[in-house]
This record gives sequence, C-alpha cells and structure tokens, in this order.
Amino acid sequence: MKLLVVGGGGREHAIIKKLKENKSVEEIYALPGNGGIAADATCVGISATDIPGIVNFAKENHIDYAVVAPDDPLVLGAVDALNEIGIPCFGPRANAAIIEGSKVFSKNLMKKYGIPTAAYEVFDNMDAALKYLEDAPIPTVIKADGLALGKGVIIANTRQEAMDAVRSMMADKIFGKSGEHIVIEEFLEGPEVSVLAFTDGKTVKPMVSSMDHKRAGDGDTGLNTGGMGTVAPNPYYTPEIAGRCMKEIFLPTIDAMNAEGRSFTGCLYFGLMLTPNGPKVIEYNCRFGDPETQVVLPLLESDLLTIMQATTGGTLAQTEVKFADKHACCVIWASQGYPTSYKKGFEITMTPEASAHTYVAGAKLENGKLVTSGGRVTGTTAVADTLEEAIWEAYRISDGVQFQNAYRRSDIGQRALQALK
Ligand code: AMP
Ligand code: GLY
Repeated sequence: MKLLVVGGGGREHAIIKKLKENKSVEEIYALPGNGGIAADATCVGISATDIPGIVNFAKENHIDYAVVAPDDPLVLGAVDALNEIGIPCFGPRANAAIIEGSKVFSKNLMKKYGIPTAAYEVFDNMDAALKYLEDAPIPTVIKADGLALGKGVIIANTRQEAMDAVRSMMADKIFGKSGEHIVIEEFLEGPEVSVLAFTDGKTVKPMVSSMDHKRAGDGDTGLNTGGMGTVAPNPYYTPEIAGRCMKEIFLPTIDAMNAEGRSFTGCLYFGLMLTPNGPKVIEYNCRFGDPETQVVLPLLESDLLTIMQATTGGTLAQTEVKFADKHACCVIWASQGYPTSYKKGFEITMTPEASAHTYVAGAKLENGKLVTSGGRVTGTTAVADTLEEAIWEAYRISDGVQFQNAYRRSDIGQRALQALK
C-alpha cells in the first residue's frame, strides 16, 4: 500500500514510525514531513494547508490511504477533498472538524446535549463582553473562537487582565478573525487528562490516557507552549473515572455529532479536567495531540493502519485496540526562547540509541546535516514497566540528542509520580 501522511512534526513522525510496522505498507509520503521524518518516509515539499497541492499529489501518485494529522488541513477540508477523488482518509471531514475549529460551536454542542463543561457566555460585541466582566467571577477564562496555534486561551486572574484580554482579541485582533467571537468561561480546577479516542462515528475506543506539560518552565511556570513533554498513562485517570467519561462525555459527544449531521471519524481528543464536581471537557481537538501521540502510540500493541482503516470503514467495534500495560515518557528538546523568539539552523547530533527513540519535530536537512528549524525540535520517548523508570530512561536517552541553544524541562512526569505515591 502507498500511504500519504499530511503534516510535519513530532506527532507525524510517531504516526509514520507506527504505520511502518504494517507489512503491507510499501511507501509512505509525508507532506511536507521534516528533516528527521526523511529517514522514515519520502518527504515532499507540499505544505499541509495546500489542499489542491495535496489532492494533486495523491492523484498522481495513486495513494491508497491518507492520514491527515494537523488541525488546520482538517478544518480546511483536506479529508473532504481527498474523499472526493476516491481516496479514503483517517480524520474527520470539515463539518466535524469544527468541533476544534470553533470553540463557540463546541461549547454550544456541549450545552445542547448536556455534556459537562465549564459554564460560559459567547460574545460578538466587545462592549457587551466588558459589561459582563464587571461582575463576573474571577479568575475567568477568555477564549478566541477559532484556531490560534494553541494560544487563543487567556486565564485572567484579575478583572483588569480579563478586560485587557477581551480588548486584545476583539479590538486589537491579536488572533485575527479567530477573535471576532469569544467565549468567556468559568475557571475550573483539578488535574488535567488528555484522552485520545479512535472512532468510526458509532463506536469509541479510547487510547491509553496521558498527561501533557504545557508550560515552558519547570514547576509549570512560564508561557504556554504546544507541550514540553508527556507521560502515559495518566495516574489521575482511574478506571472509575474512565467509566464515567465514557458514559457522560465520550459516547454523548459521538451521539451529539451524529444528531447534528456531523458524524466524526478519526481521532477525537478529549482535553479533560477532573474537577471536584466530576470530569469536565476543557477542549476538544479533532486530531491526535502533540506530544501526546509520542507516548500513546509507542504503547499501542495492535496494528495502527488496521485501526485507522476500521475508523474509515465503520468496523471499529470488531477491531482490536490494545495497549501495553507499561509506562511511557516523552521529553522535548526545544530551542532556547521558544515559545516566543529563538534562533534556528544549529546542527543536531544524536547517538544511535537516541536516534532510535527520538521523534523529530522542528528540523530540516541542510547539506546532508540535520539542523534546527523550529521551536520544539525533538521528542525522546522511553517505555518501561514503571513510570519512574520511563522518566529516568527518557532523560538518559535524550542526553544523546545535542544542539546549541537547546532547553528542556527537568521535571516531566514528576507530578504524575507524586500522584502515584
Ligand atoms: P487550550 O489552548 O484550549 O488547550 O487551553 C490551554 C490551557 O488552558 C488548558 O490546558 C488548561 O490548562 C487551561 N484552561 C482552559 N480552559 C480552562 C478553564 N475553563 N479553567 C481552567 N483552566 C482552563
Ligand atoms: N498537546 C496538546 C495538543 O496537541 O493540542
């Protein structure tokens, strides 16, 4: 089979490495891929958001199956366009990807179908939003409606911060059109859990749970990033909570999307907060998480391509989705300065052991050498029988990845370890 994977980060590298385990895979093209993915797939210089370019490439190269991994091509309708020329795809169509593409849509969906989430109000008028904030409970959370590279959420600890956030989104338009509508919601507290789930629109099969580390600095300080590391499983996600989530959140979400005529297939990501009043949805993503994928897929014992095809063919109920009873930890090396500004172009070296355990995110090939080209550069994953060992090994092995101006957090997994004790 000839496969096409749209995207070019650490998540896509993890997906490609897992897909390669299937013997029927002859060729994988990554659009655009990256300098590290080039070791595992044929990278083609077509951007992940160039939908006509992707479609032309797929047609000319007789692609049998496509995986669309990032949010923007999904929201732009890459799956619809590939389906139109007869290519089956892993991922939702645009009318279902809206569950991530519009926070107003997802909040209204949850309200309409009684799915637990933070209380909220939607505004398209700045004065009304500012008036509401005059006596809203503080802290409060301000969210831009559309995609904003993971930066569209502002937690305001004072009334002034909340008002400034509203003005920056609605008057200064720091997120462009994404901020034309905003959601102001209740501040929730509790441990956060990421659950990625395969679904064919009827059956939901959750993957092993995970914990992201979104802040740039140790002890969860500093700016929000795309994620500086992950562990799986998440110790807060007990079997009892998993049962509640299936009944109160996962199945109702699938049913709600069907009732709206927006059947969701692919990977649905539930960003959950375990509050004293039960699990609540913080956000939905219409795709695999990054770097959650880098700890979840290494624990998957079943064949990924078979599962993906089952989500497309509606046969997920009969398909095995089995995870190892082990622990995984992924440690990201980022460029110093990320998530704001940072220098690029530094050569990356890896020991053979590090190379075997590392997913490459922000790097390109220059004269045959791998050099840094992004904020998050690499993610090194270790799998072990205990969480403690997985953390230790991930750090030890990631010592074998080196480049100038590199930084990583030193406490990935420590909160999870405390929770276990
Ligand atoms: P997002 O960009 O939607 O992933 O949100 C970024 C982070 O903001 C989440 O991981 C949470 O830590 C935090 N967050 C979002 N919504 C809330 C909320 N209602 N209450 C507390 N924290 C929140
Ligand atoms: N790691 C969070 C996300 O992929 O959105």
